[in-house]
Formats: sequence, structure tokens, C-alpha cells
Amino acid sequence: MNPDFTGRTAIVTGAAHGLGRAISIAFAGHGASVWACDVIEDELLETQKLSRAAGGACTARACDVRDKDAVQRFVKDASSAAGRVHVLVNNAGGVLGQVGRPLEEVTPAAWQAIFDVNLTGAFHFSQAVAPGMKAARSGRIINISSGAGLGAPKDSGSSSNASRSGASARPRTSRGACSSSRPIRPGGSPARCSRSTAASD
Ligand SMILES: NC(=O)c1ccc[n+]([C@@H]2O[C@H](COP(=O)([O-])OP(=O)(O)OC[C@H]3O[C@@H](n4cnc5c(N)ncnc54)[C@H](O)[C@@H]3O)[C@@H](O)[C@H]2O)c1
Repeated sequence: MNPDFTGRTAIVTGAAHGLGRAISIAFAGHGASVWACDVIEDELLETQKLSRAAGGACTARACDVRDKDAVQRFVKDASSAAGRVHVLVNNAGGVLGQVGRPLEEVTPAAWQAIFDVNLTGAFHFSQAVAPGMKAARSGRIINISSGAGLGAPKDSGSSSNASRSGASARPRTSRGACSSSRPIRPGGSPARCSRSTAASD
């Protein structure tokens, strides 16, 4: 398969490293104009460099997905520069540095920290791109979920698992905003801990 994204704009969240970086490079390599965001600026700039080297355009900007106003500004700038956003990949998040622990040991703060990024962050971005996709009667929202949202993994990462169940369900609530909204559930690749949004407890 060799998709051509020339003339298409794709936003990728959580693009400083890991899957987000790989997704950004892949879109750029297939001709897309990528708008990449993360909270880790130095590594985000490396993603920008690698995406441009892959052959596409890439604009990397710091943006915290938990900050609704910042997300609105990011999408507005991407839409103004490119005409409109064709694809949104809600990838930011993961376990945010938390370690798996039994449910009864998960603090409310740790639970909330995961949901703020994994679910609310994706909500902010999906809500921001929805008007443009609706007006164009076309668009794609891809939610990076997890197989953990479907079962009970060994590490008892209850907050992440629950938030990923939500991410898997979210496409059903996004229908109508875009022509396609779907979850992707990776599993098993090495993940790094987010530096700036990891819960400390
Ligand atoms: N790696 C795996 O095996 C695996 C398995 C299942 C699901 N996933 C999902 O795939 C996605 C990416 O995973 P990964 O392994 O590349 O993780 P990762 O930790 O390498 O990347 C996540 C990125 O999100 C960014 N991020 C965190 N908080 C943010 C915020 N508030 N605003 C903006 N960006 C923020 C981090 O800085 C980081 O760059 C996650 O949503 C994760 O849940 C990964």
C-alpha cells in the first residue's frame, strides 16, 4: 500500500517520540503536511526534522492537549495555514509514567491525570477539528487506544486501561463530526515515560 497524502493536512498529538513520531514521519513521507504537537519541545523539534527529511512538510509546536484554549489555537493555525485539517491522530498519552498497581492503591489524582490526557485531551482536539470536518463533509479522526482497554492486562494499570476503554468507545460519540473516526489499539512496543505530565505518586 502506498497512500498519497499530498495536499492533505494531518495533526498528530504526542509526537515528540514513540508512536507519535513514527506516525508523523509516515504521514510526511507520504506527502502530507504534518502539524505535530507535544509538551516536550526539544524532542518535538527532532520529529519535525525527521518528518521533513522523510519528504513532507512538518510544523512542530508545543501544545498541551489538556489546555483547551491552546488546542483551539493550534487547530486554528493549522487550518489557516493549510486550508483545513483532513486527519487528526489523537495519540498523546499512555501511562504517563505511572506504574501498574492494584486498583485499591490508585489515587484519585493519578486516575485523573491519566484521564485528563488520554480522554479529555482527545476530546479537546476532536472538538476543535469537528467544525472544519463537518463543513467539508469529510475528515478522519484516529484515536490511538490500546488493547488494554479491552481486557485486564497483567500490570493492573487500571487508570490507563479504563481511559483506553473510553478511547475505544469515543468514535461512537464522534460520528457525525467526520466521515470516519476509529480507534487503533497498539500493544507491546517499548514506551517511554512522559517527562512533563507524569504523575509523581
Ligand atoms: N507503546 C505501546 O506498546 C502502546 C500500547 C498500547 C497503547 N499505546 C498508546 O499509543 C500512544 C503512544 O504511545 P507511546 O508508546 O508512543 O508513548 P510515549 O510515551 O512514547 O508517547 C506519548 C507522547 O504523548 C506526549 N504527551 C503526554 N502528555 C501530553 C500532553 N498533556 N499534551 C501533549 N502531549 C503529551 C508525551 O510527551 C509523549 O511524547 C499512547 O496513547 C498509548 O496509550 C501504546
